Amino acid sequence: MSSIKTTEEFNSRIKQVIITKEQIDEAVRKAGADISAEYEGRPLLLVSILKGAYVFMADLCRAVSIPCEIGFMAAKSYYEGTESSGKVKITLDLSQDISQYHVIIVEDIIDTGRTLNDIIKMLKARNPLSLKVLTLLDKPSRRLVELEADVSLFTIPDLFVIGYGLDCGEIYRNLPYVAEYDEKGE
Ligand code: IMP
Ligand code: MG
Repeated sequence: MSSIKTTEEFNSRIKQVIITKEQIDEAVRKAGADISAEYEGRPLLLVSILKGAYVFMADLCRAVSIPCEIGFMAAKSYYEGTESSGKVKITLDLSQDISQYHVIIVEDIIDTGRTLNDIIKMLKARNPLSLKVLTLLDKPSRRLVELEADVSLFTIPDLFVIGYGLDCGEIYRNLPYVAEYDEKGE
């Protein structure tokens, strides 16, 4: 359980807004329109990695205007706090046979790239009709494996960010914007 108990402490650790709700809304609308145009007439499966991408997926799928299915996977690489464990564990897998679909992985953030790298390898082995990666946030300066998203909505510097699905110790996923996390608080 998180050590953040009071609303005062919760607010004190939100250092600065990095991406506003309005900026996110606009980028998500455009990404949805682009997907709708590109995948028209093709079987489409949006795959989201829980938990971080659940808010992005919920908004993105409503910005897509063509038939599509939704699937969820869960992978863990960060446990408590802000340090990566460097280990990726799949804790929930898809129910769909992806060989029948054009697949877009909908990710919250690409940091070291390890999580996504493992998931891409696993999904490619299942022979999807095509596979692309769409990420809300990209921290390219932190990359440890060679990996580039097909579409990245925002590139951010090496900061630990919270909100819009992203957590610190399971807190802050419910913020409607992306903010920098203040390690100290005041
Ligand atoms: P990667 O494997 O290092 O690319 O990152 C894996 C996961 O770490 C992401 O999907 C996020 O859930 C989490 N993560 C990475 N950077 C941040 C951050 O700045 N804030 C919150 N979670 C993060
Ligand atoms: Mg996370």
